[in-house]
Amino acid sequence: MNQTESRKHEHIRISLEKNVASHHNFWDDVKLMHNALPEINKDEVDLTTKLFGKKLSAPLVIAGMTGGYIKAKKINENLAAAAEKYQIGMGVGSQRAALENPDLKDTYGIVKNYDIPLRLANIGASQLVLWGPKKTLENAQKMIDMIDAHVFVICLNFLQEVIQSEGEANAKGCLSAIKQLADDLNTPVVVKESGAGISFNVAERLSKTKIAGIDVGGLGGTSFSAIEHYRANMINDKLHERGGKTFWDWGIPTPLSILEVGDATGWELPIIATGGIRHGLDAAKALALGASAAGIARVLLSPADKDAESVLFEINTIIKELRAAMFLAGADSVTKMADVEVDSWM
Ligand SMILES: Cc1cc2nc3c(=O)[nH]c(=O)nc-3n(C[C@H](O)[C@H](O)[C@H](O)COP(=O)(O)O)c2cc1C
Repeated sequence: MNQTESRKHEHIRISLEKNVASHHNFWDDVKLMHNALPEINKDEVDLTTKLFGKKLSAPLVIAGMTGGYIKAKKINENLAAAAEKYQIGMGVGSQRAALENPDLKDTYGIVKNYDIPLRLANIGASQLVLWGPKKTLENAQKMIDMIDAHVFVICLNFLQEVIQSEGEANAKGCLSAIKQLADDLNTPVVVKESGAGISFNVAERLSKTKIAGIDVGGLGGTSFSAIEHYRANMINDKLHERGGKTFWDWGIPTPLSILEVGDATGWELPIIATGGIRHGLDAAKALALGASAAGIARVLLSPADKDAESVLFEINTIIKELRAAMFLAGADSVTKMADVEVDSWM
């Protein structure tokens, strides 16, 4: 295993074995107004939606987590089987490992064996700057082909980079690299945070590019600072162990980030709400705040590490909960969820 492969493996292992959630889940602060007379039938609630032109049976996306080492293939396969069965979106983790070692391509490419309506490719933003425009375009196309992606995700992960022992916290030039790629690529580009959220100001700058959407990737769920805290602890790196603890809860809460991004973009770009979604009720809250879909990562990791049936059970449950929440809020379609009253917040 090279350094990138073993890092990916450690991230998964730590996420499975330790509590790496932020100390507060901000979805608990959002309450949907109960509708005692919904005047709709639960079984008639329509969960279908369109995201980046693709029809999903429910407004859910499995957020990119893995690929790039042997065991990740099975995790991605178990997730892919569920994404196919329930016709929802699915992302893979950063594909850098397979660019460095083509033998690892199928740890991501396995998702191509499944009929998934929306597949999302993924790379960290700092790579774009390192590569420069020509190589970025070439590599982006390779990553898209690797999984037959419909969307290319650029992941902003500077919190992780700054805490990680071997991190590359070089953000200069990222925005123009994003702009360039969104201009050059035929595939829609989405910008995603990975746990620290996107502010009004950042969304406003991003909205001047040709990106097709934003995944707010906010605070409240998996904390990459926490993951790096445990990684540093494993190698007795006291400095980064301490940094991981200090910045454990750094970031913009996911619900707040949805509002910031929506306001900055005039609610014209689709917003994926990833960060701390634990069940269908959290997903319903994300829709009520204006997100187009909810992104789910760590809740699916442990089932995916077990078997496909466990992921199927989890997603089926999330969908049932989402339907129940929509019924109780009186919304019989995904679009109508945006009109549901948010009872209290913070
Ligand atoms: C083990 C692990 C690996 C991840 N790797 C990536 C990645 O490569 N690219 C990315 O955009 N996000 C990555 N993420 C972030 C998730 O996509 C998601 O934004 C984050 O975990 C918050 O969602 P959650 O609270 O549902 O876990 C990873 C998350 C986990 C738990």
